[in-house]
Amino acid sequence: MKILVINGPNLNMLGIREPDIYGKNTYGDLCALINDYADKNGVEVKIFQSNHEGDLVDEIQAAYQKFDGIVINPAAYTHTSVAILDAVKSVGIPTVEVHISAVETREDFRQVSYIRQACIKTITGLGFDGYLRAIDVLLENGK
Ligand code: DQA
Repeated sequence: MKILVINGPNLNMLGIREPDIYGKNTYGDLCALINDYADKNGVEVKIFQSNHEGDLVDEIQAAYQKFDGIVINPAAYTHTSVAILDAVKSVGIPTVEVHISAVETREDFRQVSYIRQACIKTITGLGFDGYLRAIDVLLENGK
C-alpha cells in the first residue's frame, strides 16, 4: 500500500511552536516516527509539508491513481479551505484527517472542519501517534 502524508502550515515548526499544545518533539521526529511505522507495516510512504494552500492542492491532485490512501493534517486550512476539500473529493482516495491536538476542546473557530466530510475517519488529540492510527485505519480499510 502507498500512503501520502500531507501536513499543512506551521507543522514544520513542531517542537518550537506552542509546545504546551503540540509537544516538544520536532517535525523531523514526526517524520522519523511515520517512516519507521510505515517500514514495519510494509507501507510505502511519502511525507509532504507546505505552508501554501495551492501546493497542498497540487500534491493531492498528483496523488491521483498513484496512492492508495492519504493521511492529512491540513492544520489551519482545516478550518478555511474548500479548495483542499474539493481536491480530496476530486481524487477519490480514502483519506484520514489527523490533528495532533484535541481541536474539539479548543477555540470556536477550530470546530469547523471543511475536510471532514471527505474523510473516512478523523483522529484528534493523540499527539504524533494519531498519524500512526491513521495508517492503521487505511490498512484496515484497504483489506
Ligand atoms: C492542528 C490544529 C489546527 O487547529 C491548527 O491550526 C494547527 C494544527 C493540530 O494538528 O492539532 O496548525 O491541525
